[in-house]
Amino acid sequence: MSKIQASKNPVQIVEQSRIAQPMGTTLDRFIKNNQDQFAYASGELSQLLRDIALASKVVNREVNKAGLIDIMGALGSQNTFGESQQKLDVLANIRFTRALMKGGEACAIISEETESFVDLTNHGKYVIAIDPLDGSSNIDVNVSIGTIFSIYRRKTKEGTPISEEDILQRGEEQVAAGYVLYGSSTMLVYTTGFGVNGFTYEPTLGEYFLSHPDLKMPEDGKIFSVNESGLATFPAPVVNYLQFCKAQNYTGRYIGSLVADFHRNMLKGGIYIYPTSAHAPEGKLRLMYECNALAFIAEQAGGKATDGVQRILSIQPKTLHQRTAFYVGSKKMVEQAAGA
Ligand code: AHG
Ligand code: MN
Ligand code: MN
Repeated sequence: MSKIQASKNPVQIVEQSRIAQPMGTTLDRFIKNNQDQFAYASGELSQLLRDIALASKVVNREVNKAGLIDIMGALGSQNTFGESQQKLDVLANIRFTRALMKGGEACAIISEETESFVDLTNHGKYVIAIDPLDGSSNIDVNVSIGTIFSIYRRKTKEGTPISEEDILQRGEEQVAAGYVLYGSSTMLVYTTGFGVNGFTYEPTLGEYFLSHPDLKMPEDGKIFSVNESGLATFPAPVVNYLQFCKAQNYTGRYIGSLVADFHRNMLKGGIYIYPTSAHAPEGKLRLMYECNALAFIAEQAGGKATDGVQRILSIQPKTLHQRTAFYVGSKKMVEQAAGA
């Protein structure tokens, strides 16, 4: 008979385990457990999500040190839109690009920080659109910022040069999308089209843990998030809707970091609106790496996203950095604001 025997009292360990709170499911385990939901399950999308999560941990580290080392403030350069680039914008872009290049699953990257897309000239199957650092004007004042990403499958044959049809895909063709919120805690929220799940970063362990399973956005809400400086030239339905919100004593909340405003509204019920105005005739936000990802997540959580007329996910992009008006959040609120 073997000298090595099973413990006679596993119950005791179960009893004792009550004093140590379970940590729950790590992001890696969750991705692995749910890999089979995905139609093309070959592990590459899972690895891609892990690459993005790893890069976000590095960016998180840099964001948290921002006040201590010389990475705050403007870099002195401008991005495609003539907007002043912050050092962290550029740093975050480098971190994500490097992780995606090393990983090998992505074949092309569309980024807010680069004028043209980057063809990684490899055999990767996925195209990534990313806003590496969203809300950069909030960096220097220690207010929440984020990262937004969309993942598409490439359409043309692997190993050939990336073409327009790989890049200019409609939002409804996303296979996954997510965001990272660098807030009072850091969170990664993503969808692969089977609901939305949120993970909170545990910095001492260096792991994301599932904290918000199967997130659902309340169907209606009482928070409106809009920069009202352009009110005089907003479309009439938006002006009317804001009057309605105020008459109902709804709460106005606007951080100026899209990810943070969206996240709050998803949890509490609310609407974020960045409409067209004289100042921003086509809206301000970018379809391909800001709106599409959040629209996908909103719909997966039971919410809605439009440009005031049509569903964001149905818009055929014509250019890489195309802007759009953006109404996103609780279904009833978005319908009413768009004058439906
Ligand atoms: P980014 O920092 O990536 O350029 O994005 C800023 C965006 C978005 O995060 C925010 O909701 C919006 O711009 C704020 O714009 P206003 O300052 O015009 O309100
Ligand atoms: Mn942004
Ligand atoms: Mn940005």
